Amino acid sequence: MTFYVTTPIYYVNDVPHIGHAYTTVIADVLHRYHKLFGDDSFFLTGTDEHGQKVQAAAEKRGLSPQAHCDELCVRFQEAWEDLNIQHDVFMRTTYPYHAKVVQECLQELFEKGDIYAHEYEGWYSVSEEIFYTEKDLVDGKSPMGKEVTKISEKNYFFKMSRYQEALIAYIEQHPQFIQPDGKRSEVLGFLRQPLQDLCISRPKARLSWGIEIPFDKDFVTYVWFDALLNYCSAIGLKQGPERQKNFNHYWPHTVHLLGKDILITHTVYWTTMLMALGLPLPKQIFAHGWWLNEDGGKMSKSEGKVVSPLDMKNLVGTDPFRYFLIRETVLGNDASFSPHIVVNRINSELANNLGNLFSRITNLVEKYYDSKKPSEHGLLPQTKSIQELALTTAHKVQQEILNMAPQAAVGAVIDLLSATNKFIDEIAPWKLVKEDKDKTGECLSVCLEVLRIAAILLSPVMPEKCASILSQLGVHGTPQLADAKVWGRLMDGAEIKKGEILFPRITLP
Ligand code: MSP
Repeated sequence: MTFYVTTPIYYVNDVPHIGHAYTTVIADVLHRYHKLFGDDSFFLTGTDEHGQKVQAAAEKRGLSPQAHCDELCVRFQEAWEDLNIQHDVFMRTTYPYHAKVVQECLQELFEKGDIYAHEYEGWYSVSEEIFYTEKDLVDGKSPMGKEVTKISEKNYFFKMSRYQEALIAYIEQHPQFIQPDGKRSEVLGFLRQPLQDLCISRPKARLSWGIEIPFDKDFVTYVWFDALLNYCSAIGLKQGPERQKNFNHYWPHTVHLLGKDILITHTVYWTTMLMALGLPLPKQIFAHGWWLNEDGGKMSKSEGKVVSPLDMKNLVGTDPFRYFLIRETVLGNDASFSPHIVVNRINSELANNLGNLFSRITNLVEKYYDSKKPSEHGLLPQTKSIQELALTTAHKVQQEILNMAPQAAVGAVIDLLSATNKFIDEIAPWKLVKEDKDKTGECLSVCLEVLRIAAILLSPVMPEKCASILSQLGVHGTPQLADAKVWGRLMDGAEIKKGEILFPRITLP
């Protein structure tokens, strides 16, 4: 299977925060799961570098916009390195090849009659870089509550309205196209109103930092029109036969992940642009929820309540932080964020469950079996049920990932680990070993197999910790799902290494 996952490309001016980290970690985890399944997976993230806000910020710093972007995009690159993100491409809209693709697309749509010039009067929100009509405004502000100013100018428009009916029909015929279902209904609701054409230019007199419109040198391209095309330019659209082959390979096996705030730009602007360009629509547009403060309020920059992902990572470690982001909430739902919530989740599921199981078992194997894996003899009634649970868990994880439910995938592994901890408590190997070494050995051997399977299944979420579990069990090489679907891969007598505590309990300062 071919899988192409994208995050939004982030505004280069922003300081990476929990929201950016969230989308990026989900994408990374899905990408790594698909690789675990043996799929051909490609993962794009990057930065959105044109527009008024970037131009203004560069001016303020006395830098050229390009120098400003070159400097700032590094913050994202470093943040993703710190969170162990394995993207295949870090896309930047200031790459010259991207500008060429955008210009070719504009030219094509202009020649086709899908772009036209028009004298325009309306309201503009600088912070969102979006035009509104009079009737869009709510109490004199944008629907998102942002300040707007009135402007009147010539601009170029994309005939978005021409594709409205086709888009509605497509969404209705493809229930999986926009997910979750609630968001799909929201978009269909939005499309019940007549769709306005989209203003896709900005006069250079007002904004020069953008991609020049190929048929009118006095204008640059509207940032969203430019930015959305990155998903196609990055993989080779309109760059010659070789690159086109790559494009055709990954497109449209695409899942766009994004926050619900940018649902309409993706489901309406982007999809109608693709329709106009005669390109197939992506497989899925998936909107995730928001991280809220503990009191349910939005984590907004203006309130100074935005959490830096790197601070959190420094507090709890990269893998546990990644685990938290995936495990805490169903993809699509909002969730609360606070250091306490993070630490409780990590202590209860990683320290007390997985970490505790691993240290109990490796200690006992070292102490009573000379650090060698004991054998199974078919002596314990529970062995079979744990075995079956482990193997069905591997299938369940795969199914949940294909359903875009990583939280449930991880939950299935946690259930397996809880059942295994319960099994040890029942058997009490630390007592039984004095009476029956074969039965005890079987109990430990079963637990070691569970740990091997669990570590494979959790490796996309916690790559480093799982690699360390597997290596202590003597398993080397790239983890693969196929190995988690088979019981008994650990050899009797294999050396089991007891390591440092995997997940030390965290106490907040
Ligand atoms: N540049 C545009 C996207 C262009 S894509 C062609 C943009 N950039 S952004 O820097 O604002 O990034 C937004 C991403 O971060 C969105 O997916 C958004 O939902 C996410 N988040 C920002 N704050 C968030 C939370 N508090 N919680 C979860 N995600 C949120 O929009």
